[in-house]
Amino acid sequence: MVLQNPFTPAFGSEPLFLAGREQIIEDILRGLENGPGDPNRATILIGPRGSGKTVLLTKIANEAGKANWISARVTASEGMLDSILEQTQKNGKEFLPAKAKTRLKEMHAFGIGFSIEAKTEKTPSWRFRMAEIMELLAEYRIGLLITVDEIDVRHDELISLVRDFQHFVTEKREVALLMAGLPGKTLQMFQDKNISFVRRAFQHQLNAIPISDVTSALKKTIMATGRTIDDDALETAANYSRGFPFLIQLVGYHMWRQSPDKKNIKYNDAVSGIDSAGEYMDRMILDTTVKDLSEKDLLFLIAMLPDADESRMSSIANRMNVTAATASQYRLRLIRQGVIEEYGRGKVQFSMPLLREYLQKHYL
Ligand SMILES: Nc1ncnc2c1ncn2[C@@H]1O[C@H](COP(=O)(O)OP(=O)(O)O)[C@@H](O)[C@H]1O
Ligand SMILES: [Mg+2]
Repeated sequence: MVLQNPFTPAFGSEPLFLAGREQIIEDILRGLENGPGDPNRATILIGPRGSGKTVLLTKIANEAGKANWISARVTASEGMLDSILEQTQKNGKEFLPAKAKTRLKEMHAFGIGFSIEAKTEKTPSWRFRMAEIMELLAEYRIGLLITVDEIDVRHDELISLVRDFQHFVTEKREVALLMAGLPGKTLQMFQDKNISFVRRAFQHQLNAIPISDVTSALKKTIMATGRTIDDDALETAANYSRGFPFLIQLVGYHMWRQSPDKKNIKYNDAVSGIDSAGEYMDRMILDTTVKDLSEKDLLFLIAMLPDADESRMSSIANRMNVTAATASQYRLRLIRQGVIEEYGRGKVQFSMPLLREYLQKHYL
């Protein structure tokens, strides 16, 4: 029998065993339980590509679904408001009385195709229609969790959603808004004057997962297929991941497939697995991350390469031939993008795994 590889190195794929992240999940679920006004009911997950944002949104929506919450899940885009309305109706169907259902359907048919700007007086607003449904759901003590992935303030409907949500909160409705986005995109949102409300939302940075959690998730995933792994192989693979979710799946996937017909995964399998994982990390994460950087930001990173570990800001400024003030502007931008991090006073280091190696390979 050919065993199926249990690892999930694909964007948005829920892993068999989630490593770490318990605290974030618990905070948000407790916020839902706690009632209107709990600050966790407006939360933003912030992290670079591959840090596990989409998977966390799914996990939290599923967990909330086991309690009294239905969810409407969208990716930021034009049309997201219609989609939220549709999903709320569909997922709340069993709680919406038949009469209200036809009424809502009529209203919806009426509203569809109208952009927010073009709405006529007769078309009830999105906010009004949502409030009506939420009131019906509230009779059954059902709350609504709205998740928005890949936030981007270029979408007017996202701004509109955040503003309406603020009213829902004031009206003490059973509703929560959980958003996720890249560090640069969330920063743009915080700077948007139209929705200063979001600055008060809880922010969770999806940092590296502790290696001990990685170890146990890797091990459980392998054992779930009836195989085993040697301790040195497990330790090598877990350390290699640096706690970066995408790498956990990549390294697991590739070491698992080295000799799938053998019951036990050995050190050599881990080493070969790491080789392949690195290639995919380049193609699926680092190529895009580096492409998103401005030329100056890239030069800053290249100026970090001569240092074996952390880099002094003064050395970077020297190598770039810019003033300390200019260099620290770049520094701030890169920190916000989740690419580097502060390392003691006046020093920085790479925070995205394998980025240094990637830049060495391509830019030296
Ligand atoms: N907590 C976790 N433990 C193990 N693997 C994870 C975890 N979170 C995400 N992953 C894996 O990491 C990869 C990226 O997850 P995803 O949610 O798509 O990231 P993002 O949305 O931030 O780009 C997927 O392969 C997923 O299976
Ligand atoms: Mg995602």
